[in-house]
Amino acid sequence: MVWNPDQYHLFSDHRLRPALDLLSQVHLTTPRVIYDLGCGTGNVTSLLSKRWGDSIIVGVDSSAEMLEKAKNDHPALEWKQADIQHFEPTSKGHLIFSNAALHWLDKHDELIPSLLEQLIPGGVLAVQMPNNFQAPSHQLLYDLALSNGWRDKVGSLVRPAPVHKLEWYYDLLSSKVANLNLWETTYFQVLGGKNAVLEWTRGTALRPFLAALDSDEERNTFEQEYADLLLDAYPQQEDGSTIYPFSRLFIVAETESD
Ligand SMILES: C[S@@+](CC[C@H](N)C(=O)[O-])C[C@H]1O[C@@H](n2cnc3c(N)ncnc32)[C@H](O)[C@@H]1O
Repeated sequence: MVWNPDQYHLFSDHRLRPALDLLSQVHLTTPRVIYDLGCGTGNVTSLLSKRWGDSIIVGVDSSAEMLEKAKNDHPALEWKQADIQHFEPTSKGHLIFSNAALHWLDKHDELIPSLLEQLIPGGVLAVQMPNNFQAPSHQLLYDLALSNGWRDKVGSLVRPAPVHKLEWYYDLLSSKVANLNLWETTYFQVLGGKNAVLEWTRGTALRPFLAALDSDEERNTFEQEYADLLLDAYPQQEDGSTIYPFSRLFIVAETESD
């Protein structure tokens, strides 16, 4: 999928807050090797480097567009274009951090344990993922994609919710790690703009659907139909803002020490 760094950054303050919440629960003092998986434009990677200035920090992402901005904005950090699915670094990580990226990958029953394998004993895996696939913003998109007229073109892009319940991650991880900290929260995001939720999803969930359509005319029609549905689902407040509740799931798992 082709990412647009500028569109993604329209709501950078809201997107950064969960990363800070995740970071606040990582209690390592001097992790020597840190990987930021799905680092995007490197905003969060640079926060990691501010906290642990002496560490080796590598931002990993599959998107050339995102990495180009990361390299421009943070030339002193190390960047690597790679698929998280096949993440097998030469040096094991003391910390593997991943903010808002692993929900793009399926089969978490295989993926999450495989990431633990890439940590040293006593290392930490810290993950934040959106968990709002049942929210109107996403459900309306999927319903539209599966409706008559669009199903043949984009219906196949609707995938089962990739993120499981918190209890599922507990059962997956509790016997494999020494410490496990799981939590979930809903951020009541107050957004500005006429169709703010559309602007939000333009940077993320809507992108693959538009990319799969054949012409600008189709893209405009699909987006307009989705936009109308969103305006009904997320009416503006009296002051013109839109409240967009957004649930996120967090995992901080520490492997057994030697
Ligand atoms: C929503 S952005 C999050 C960026 C960054 N972590 C942040 O918090 O600002 C998701 C990123 O995950 C990357 N991504 C998605 N699937 C990936 C995969 N299989 N391998 C590597 N990167 C992936 C995308 O390219 C994108 O840059």
